[in-house]
Amino acid sequence: MEKKKKLMVVGIWDVKLMFESVIIIFVIMGSLATTAVYYVTSDREQQGDTGSSSRRNNDDNVGFDYGSLDGCDLFSGKWVHDNESYPLYKEHECPYIPGEFSCGQYGRTDFKYQQWRWQPHGCNLPRFNAKDVLERLRGKRVIFVGDSVNRNQWLSMVCMLQSVIPLGLKKMHKAANVSLFTFKAFEYNVSIDFYWAPLLVESNADHPSKHKRNDRVINIQTIEKHAKNWINADILVFNSYLWWGTPTLKILYGSIADSKRYNIVSNHVGYKMVLEKWSNWLTTYRKHKRTLSYFMSMTATHRRGVDWGMQGNENCLNETEPVMKDDFWESGSDSKMMKILESSLDELKARGVNVQLVNITQLTQYRKDAHPSIHRLFYSRLKAKQLSNPNGYADCTHWCLPGVPDTWNELLLVSILQTLK
Ligand SMILES: *[C@@H]1O[C@H](CO)[C@@H](O)[C@H](O)[C@H]1NC(C)=O
Ligand SMILES: *[C@@H]1O[C@H](CO)[C@@H](O)[C@H](O)[C@H]1NC(C)=O
Ligand SMILES: *[C@@H]1O[C@H](CO)[C@@H](O)[C@H](O)[C@H]1NC(C)=O
Ligand SMILES: *[C@@H]1O[C@H](CO)[C@@H](O)[C@H](O)[C@H]1NC(C)=O
Ligand SMILES: *[C@@H]1O[C@H](CO)[C@@H](O)[C@H](O)[C@H]1NC(C)=O
Repeated sequence: MEKKKKLMVVGIWDVKLMFESVIIIFVIMGSLATTAVYYVTSDREQQGDTGSSSRRNNDDNVGFDYGSLDGCDLFSGKWVHDNESYPLYKEHECPYIPGEFSCGQYGRTDFKYQQWRWQPHGCNLPRFNAKDVLERLRGKRVIFVGDSVNRNQWLSMVCMLQSVIPLGLKKMHKAANVSLFTFKAFEYNVSIDFYWAPLLVESNADHPSKHKRNDRVINIQTIEKHAKNWINADILVFNSYLWWGTPTLKILYGSIADSKRYNIVSNHVGYKMVLEKWSNWLTTYRKHKRTLSYFMSMTATHRRGVDWGMQGNENCLNETEPVMKDDFWESGSDSKMMKILESSLDELKARGVNVQLVNITQLTQYRKDAHPSIHRLFYSRLKAKQLSNPNGYADCTHWCLPGVPDTWNELLLVSILQTLK
């Protein structure tokens, strides 16, 4: 079998690990980029229509009328096993998946987690068609802004789209000195970008790879430092949730360098303040540029197996099936944060600025089976004591690719294409 080698540059990112229920954010020191070698079988058939029948409407999807989904609640539904339509791409066929999300490459051998379709109660989603989506996004720049879960989603979107773009007509690029990563599809003049800003405003976690912090320090005054890098976007996709997990944080009123004037506030108060700052920025910004804006709601972490009937310190490790209980809710999800976000978006709407909530919280609750757990690249060498307790270092926060973030993107795309129609 002929094999083709591709050299890819991928970033090093935060790793969230859990030791005896204390979450430690590790530093990932080292070079900005690491090099991974991917082996891609060249004679593998391109991802695309398999020709098999799908239970969903409109197999071909070109010319699909997104307006027909108006009024359907896309976020209320259930997971249905569908190994004909999913996965949308194969792990080894997407050269952009970094070690954190390459579960198969890192030893996962069960793949049912890739084969679930989100079925809204009130309607059918169109079958994903990369060429059709690229055509509809022609000339647009999309920027995902947020944390590592948003980066997870960005890479999923890149993988979903990239397979139909020939080599030489696409490029992955990191901008110098800013936390901006760009995937460009030249033929369509489409740009799918990611900007690292886990707390939206300036913070001590702003370096995309060196951000060892157990304490959170944010500068409430300065969102422009980041926001100036978003201003060419046609479509902005925000998230910000995970980094608000500490009970308190320090809010500065000067600069990060001069840290004399500050308040200590609870995470909930801090989140509200930052969303207010962000709302003000967006309101001003939208006066001179029409941008479609979306906010991805918080995603579940599956660190407490007791939530679904396991014993002791069991977590997402070894889970191979979703939870099938309606309205399941894992105890780590902070619904108060969700309420704060919702009321910020309501206030924005009252000012005439519409930011659509992409409400993926409930659908992620069920998917205890879809995290990398121990099947991922870890950037610090694991010690013998850690290795002897795999539950302790299992990643139950991020998501394997292909996997659940592909569904978030299908839902996001429906929302976008309903508006662009
Ligand atoms: C998000 O979706 C869930 C599940 O359908 C629903 O219970 C919840 O009310 C929704 N939240 C918002 C703000 O729409
Ligand atoms: C798909 O799943 C069904 C069971 O739901 C199984 O019988 C079938 O072999 C699977 N097909 C593939 C291609 O994995
Ligand atoms: C490509 O898209 C950008 C917006 O992202 C636009 O400013 C530019 O004019 C487009 N170029 C062409 C050749 O269409
Ligand atoms: C990027 O940062 C380095 C130091 O970190 C600096 O020497 C260089 O001038 C910066 N380049 C730009 C384009 O700002
Ligand atoms: C989890 O799976 C590993 C193999 O991947 C196995 O060694 C271990 O015993 C399993 N743990 C539990 C609690 O089933």
